[in-house]
Amino acid sequence: MVRILAIANQKGGVGKTTTTLNLGLVLARKRRVLLVDLDPQASLTASFGFDSYRLDRSGFSLLMYDDVALSRALRPIHSSLALVPGSVDLATASIKLVQGSHPLDRLRKLLRENRMQFDDILIDTPPGINVLTVIGLLAADAVLIPAQCNHAAMLGIRAVMDVSRRVREQMGNPDLKVRGIVPTFYDPHSLYTARVLEDLRALFPNQVLKTMIPYDVHVADAPYRGRAVVQDAPDSPGAQAYVRLVEELDSNSSAP
Ligand SMILES: Nc1ncnc2c1ncn2[C@@H]1O[C@H](COP(=O)(O)OP(=O)(O)OP(=O)(O)O)[C@@H](O)[C@H]1O
Ligand SMILES: [Mg+2]
Repeated sequence: MVRILAIANQKGGVGKTTTTLNLGLVLARKRRVLLVDLDPQASLTASFGFDSYRLDRSGFSLLMYDDVALSRALRPIHSSLALVPGSVDLATASIKLVQGSHPLDRLRKLLRENRMQFDDILIDTPPGINVLTVIGLLAADAVLIPAQCNHAAMLGIRAVMDVSRRVREQMGNPDLKVRGIVPTFYDPHSLYTARVLEDLRALFPNQVLKTMIPYDVHVADAPYRGRAVVQDAPDSPGAQAYVRLVEELDSNSSAP
């Protein structure tokens, strides 16, 4: 079944984009993958070497106009990977969307109309809970929540859970699932991290995935070489964790 997964957390800098990028690259080794960058910061787009200020096409047009085909906004990356780029225009889009002059479900309709072209669609969302987050959640089958291993993470997770419930119950995506919480920046030597994980599992029973993404300097360094860690250092702990995350997400697509 085609999966449309939104990657979201209210908190910034927790690994949303890194997770979207590396999941996407690992999935695209075997399947047809579409990545959608809904963040005006356009970090995912920059990961592929695009200068978002110079792009002649981006997700902006898909959110703003009814008659734009998905293919107009797509950038092929390689034979099984494509990107709907983000751009700073998305900030303008979000103002117009908040003003209510444009429907919020255009991306949902477009992705669902085109879903047979892809096996997996991953949507990177901006930090905070805003109209672009809502658009991502409306379009998705499920939300994946990367969460840094500290206690401040609880609030960000709770915020995504709350808005997901609202999107499910009141906004027209009744089947939206929470696919799970992925602990990021995991430090196996830290007692504090162990404590945070214990608390996370108590607070969100059955929702914390088994795979944890470790803090890994290879993950942090890869972007400086214009690469993702799964390409740049495939044997590193961070890259291996992303491979395991794909296996876990594949192993039981309806759990936890
Ligand atoms: N597991 C990791 N180990 C080390 N560094 C990491 C790891 N994951 C992400 N980083 C680094 O942390 C920074 C933030 O990651 P990323 O951009 O993925 O977070 P984000 O949640 O998308 O941020 P934003 O909220 O601004 O969109 C980046 O510099 C990234 O390279
Ligand atoms: Mg990001």
